[in-house]
Amino acid sequence: MAANNPVLDFALSCPKAELHMHIEGSLEPELAFALARRNGIAFPYADTEALRAAYNFGDLQSFLDLYYACADVLRTEADFRDLMLAYLVRAHADGIVHTEIFFDPQTHTARGIAFETVLNGLEAGAAEGLARFGISSELIVCFLRHLSEEDGFATLAQVEPFIDRIHGFGLDSSEQGHPPAKFERLFARCRALGRPVVAHAGEEGPPAYIYEALDLLKVSRIDHGVRASEDPALMQRLAQEQMPLTVCPLSNVRLCVFEQMELHTLPKLIEAGVKVTLNSDDPAYFGGYLGDNIRAVQAAFNWDAQTWYKLARNSLEASFASAAKKSDWIARLDAQFALVPV
Ligand code: HPA
Ligand code: ZN
Repeated sequence: MAANNPVLDFALSCPKAELHMHIEGSLEPELAFALARRNGIAFPYADTEALRAAYNFGDLQSFLDLYYACADVLRTEADFRDLMLAYLVRAHADGIVHTEIFFDPQTHTARGIAFETVLNGLEAGAAEGLARFGISSELIVCFLRHLSEEDGFATLAQVEPFIDRIHGFGLDSSEQGHPPAKFERLFARCRALGRPVVAHAGEEGPPAYIYEALDLLKVSRIDHGVRASEDPALMQRLAQEQMPLTVCPLSNVRLCVFEQMELHTLPKLIEAGVKVTLNSDDPAYFGGYLGDNIRAVQAAFNWDAQTWYKLARNSLEASFASAAKKSDWIARLDAQFALVPV
């Protein structure tokens, strides 16, 4: 039986939002094989064990190569629905009440899958997650930064007829050599459509990329941003502006951004007053969902309930949900926090 640990129990069960999770990165090997079978696709791995054995990443690119290859099994609306629902089942178990989910249209449209197929499938899964668990889910379209801005504009043209169903825009894929500045005009257009924008920056890339995301793309959150800790002036600015960072601890360790969890800069960011949130990034590939990230972080840093309260509260405040929803969730969080034994 698990030892009695009220702080960890609170951290795991309290209401929270997940703001950095790529739906394609929640594709577990079992589902990948099931979808390959359903779609009559020959998968280049003998079984789920052989696929899991390939999850041995040296950096972001080595992960992305496998991640894009596995996404090939996603073909139909039903596939995207099943993927979304499987994630929401796990999210519910980790206390998540709201999630803003990244997806990569270019990964699918380049294979001849219509944007509408992807969108309809993800929405069907989200609707079922809302009905069954009360989790609200919003969708954020991410542009692949290793492709051109022109390709991004072509994708945006496919998205625009469905803009009412899209909550925001983001930027992901290979960071090094693809600075935010490359997408300044595209992101101006996204903002002109009335949508908030976010960007991966400072995961593998330098602090300069975080400045560009803030000043050129005018992001509402920085995804990862952990390399901000190398630049004291940037840390100060992030804290002063209360700019949320969506930090993904297990991802950072699996992709060798930090050698081990104990060396993660999370404590430094929190101590500097940066608005940190915890997230799972690509849970099927990086050793777990949000709850697994919480367990791993707590094993390394042994934080108190106040710190976990603050992280959960940050996640709710940093979401793009309505003020009414946020205050309802925060009231529930407060009520649960009041019950933690001191
Ligand atoms: N970084 C960049 N691109 C990604 C990631 C990530 O962590 N996960 C999925 N696409
Ligand atoms: Zn990510």
